[in-house]
Amino acid sequence: MPTDRKPEFFKGARLRVGIIGCGYVGLPLALRFAEAGHRVTGFDTDPNKVQKLNHGQSYIQHILNSKVQQFVQSRHFSATTDFSRLAEADAILICVPTPLDQRREPDLSYVEQTAKSIRPHLRRGQLVVLESTTYPGTTEELVLPILEQSGMKCPTAHGPENDQIATDFFLAFSPEREDPGNKQFGLAQIPKVVGGVNPPSGRAAVSLYAQIVARVVPVSTTRAAEMAKLLENIFRCVNIALVNELKLLATRMGIDIWEVIEAAATKPFGFMPFYPGPGLGGHCIPVDPFYLAWKAREYDFATRFIELAGEVNTAMPYHVVESVAGALNERQKAVKGARVLVLGVAYKKDVDDLRESPSLKIIELLTARGAKLDYNDPFFPEMHRMRHYNFEGMKSIPLDPKTVASYDCVLIATDHSSYDYQMLVESAQLVVDTRNATRRISRHRNKIVLV
Ligand SMILES: NC(=O)c1ccc[n+]([C@@H]2O[C@H](COP(=O)([O-])OP(=O)(O)OC[C@H]3O[C@@H](n4cnc5c(N)ncnc54)[C@H](O)[C@@H]3O)[C@@H](O)[C@H]2O)c1
Repeated sequence: MPTDRKPEFFKGARLRVGIIGCGYVGLPLALRFAEAGHRVTGFDTDPNKVQKLNHGQSYIQHILNSKVQQFVQSRHFSATTDFSRLAEADAILICVPTPLDQRREPDLSYVEQTAKSIRPHLRRGQLVVLESTTYPGTTEELVLPILEQSGMKCPTAHGPENDQIATDFFLAFSPEREDPGNKQFGLAQIPKVVGGVNPPSGRAAVSLYAQIVARVVPVSTTRAAEMAKLLENIFRCVNIALVNELKLLATRMGIDIWEVIEAAATKPFGFMPFYPGPGLGGHCIPVDPFYLAWKAREYDFATRFIELAGEVNTAMPYHVVESVAGALNERQKAVKGARVLVLGVAYKKDVDDLRESPSLKIIELLTARGAKLDYNDPFFPEMHRMRHYNFEGMKSIPLDPKTVASYDCVLIATDHSSYDYQMLVESAQLVVDTRNATRRISRHRNKIVLV
């Protein structure tokens, strides 16, 4: 029997919102709904995270403990591993990981598992929204059939003629655009794209998100919303690859690419600066484009820009390692046995996130060539075992002039703001800089190699 709940119900106050997956995306979203006065329950399979959250502790560097504490104490937020409590929610938002598997193909097991854990608790009139980044078709082809095994239906239908179509529950896709560490744009300021499986589902999701963000952008289908997120990330991935390739050429031609980018960026229209680096990092840009490349094969379509960008960006850590070898060679030293200090293992500056960080690949490659590696990162006092790497036991080296001077090479892989670049250049024997972090240092420039 269709729900008699109107999509506009989700404009209401004090809704019960369930967020599945309390990570970099889910936790800020949960706190934003709590801030807007709703009663939020975070669901996570990790009991340690749930325990910490219920004790008012944040495990994400840029989210303050006090913020979690505030909403736990006011009873606007709590966390649980008990998925039967999904039945209490008016809206359920899915924010679980969507990584690549070992063959670099989409791993949708977390999304699938989550849909299965919602199914027995799904109630008529509930709104379910997938937020995890994924290929076009996931909401309708993977999540919908699992939820419909409950016996309830949410018909796939688009266009104005289906504006009032009957539905048992609401289902939509709305991609997250979180940029961890970005102080200029927080969740509330970033417009949110929303697409429904049918028009009432779209309106329900628009009603809900309009309460927490300044602007909601409705699109006609879940596929359009899924594709919009991928377009944003592929745009970044391709442009970063372009500038990385041009950097290699500029270096060979004896041109400073950083100077070129700053000059080009003065054009007030039709240009957007992207910056070269040691390789792609983070959970999104190195991963998401391959979700589309994979799906495209079903349509006999080769996404050449994505593949080419992947090839260029993947080669960057190898280029950095070659550049370190070259710089050591200039100083009559071999890589084998050289002491190298890598600055920054986080994938970008000022974040406590290691995922897909190019620093890890660089450490692995230099170690394989016989260098003796240490690292410093204020966000990672020590390293732990990861899916692809095991640097267990490595600890962040304190940065003082004497220690810095003892290394054959200091490699700036991540340009954290807290680093004293003046001291580093003055003390180091050799600085290989992958981020142009030393641009303001004028003395001892002969020690710096920009790569
Ligand atoms: N991190 C970002 O900056 C960012 C930005 C935009 C979009 N995204 C997308 O958002 C999604 C989530 O990414 P994230 O960075 O928050 O990941 P994350 O790893 O930080 O968090 C995911 C959380 O989900 C939990 N989890 C895993 N399986 C679960 C299950 N079956 N049920 C309940 N909880 C489960 C994990 O314990 C973890 O706490 C991904 O699709 C990602 O591509 C991430």
